[in-house]
Amino acid sequence: MSEMRCVIAGTGGFLPERVVTNNDLTEWVDTSDEWITERSGIRQRHMAADGEYTSDLAIGAGKAALESAGLTAEDLDFIIVATTTPDETLPSTACKVQAALGMHEGAAFDIQAACSGFIYGLSIADGFIRSGQAKNILLIGAETLTRIIDWEDRTTCVLFGDGAGAVVLQGRDDVGNRGVVASKLRSDGRQHDILYSDGGTSMTGTSGTIQMEGKDVFRHAVSNLSSVIGEVLAKTDLTQDDIDLLVPHQANKRIIDGVGKKLRMDAEQVMITIADHGNTSAASVPLALDRAVREGKVNEGDILLLEAMGAGLTWGAAVLRW
Ligand code: ACO
Repeated sequence: MSEMRCVIAGTGGFLPERVVTNNDLTEWVDTSDEWITERSGIRQRHMAADGEYTSDLAIGAGKAALESAGLTAEDLDFIIVATTTPDETLPSTACKVQAALGMHEGAAFDIQAACSGFIYGLSIADGFIRSGQAKNILLIGAETLTRIIDWEDRTTCVLFGDGAGAVVLQGRDDVGNRGVVASKLRSDGRQHDILYSDGGTSMTGTSGTIQMEGKDVFRHAVSNLSSVIGEVLAKTDLTQDDIDLLVPHQANKRIIDGVGKKLRMDAEQVMITIADHGNTSAASVPLALDRAVREGKVNEGDILLLEAMGAGLTWGAAVLRW
């Protein structure tokens, strides 16, 4: 028996059926497929249907992750949902997911760290598992960002989409050094004004819509992500040359390419899914991870680096040995 490790036992993803292509958007705002593809790498996004909520997407991804782990909701100690777009102000979306999945013990709660929500959730879950407070945790990133977009603002509306991704995290003391190796979370509230929503429960009683200084966010993304990757690797005995697969937040292909280049990674070592679903905030890292697993890109013993940056600003990275 060795130390308790937090391993990923299953992954799942869920995207709403409706697809909105870049060409579809040209009917709503003054833009073009060429501009969106060149500047962001996005070709299409999924949009939740009327009456389809963040919890519905989370339930779809959660069920898929439980199935791939070979577990049921009754095996879970916690459900954590990372979201910026909860169904309601209260209760948490996680509690709705808990009821729908049929988990009647344990606890469920939401966390809000914008696009970094999944990395934050992974770090929290790793702590619960290592400290013996949990054996199995369902961690979901789920968003309906199309509900908080100003559809007349072409500088933001072309970038975001709806979706959910999930992982089942399991405490194991028989897997050697597999599992989460280290994580590092950061935030800088002074950068609030470069990415925020212009409303909220306490301020306006409405959700508001996403406001963004794109160039500033871009600049911070490349430098913050590069530095946090150095910080998380410094907590391990690994170097950037040990990374087999980069699973980044899917905000902009140019940001992903910039980080991949700094890490000297080949194109096939970087998981890129942004073309198919745009920026799905907290859902994007688990959606990309789920696709990597299903496409056979992840093998036992591989070193994975997960990273994200979003509003707050928040950012973070995690190193896993699969
Ligand atoms: N279609 C056509 N033209 C457009 C569009 C559009 N959709 N949007 C802006 N333009 C125009 C601008 O008006 C500008 O025109 P001008 O030169 O006549 O003034 C021109 O295109 C260039 O605009 P820029 O803003 O300079 O374009 P840039 O190359 O910076 O790309 C983008 C913009 C894609 C937003 C980029 O800055 C970016 O990706 N930033 C980071 C976003 C991000 O990472 N967000 C992550 C977090 S999201 C979260 O946490 C929820």
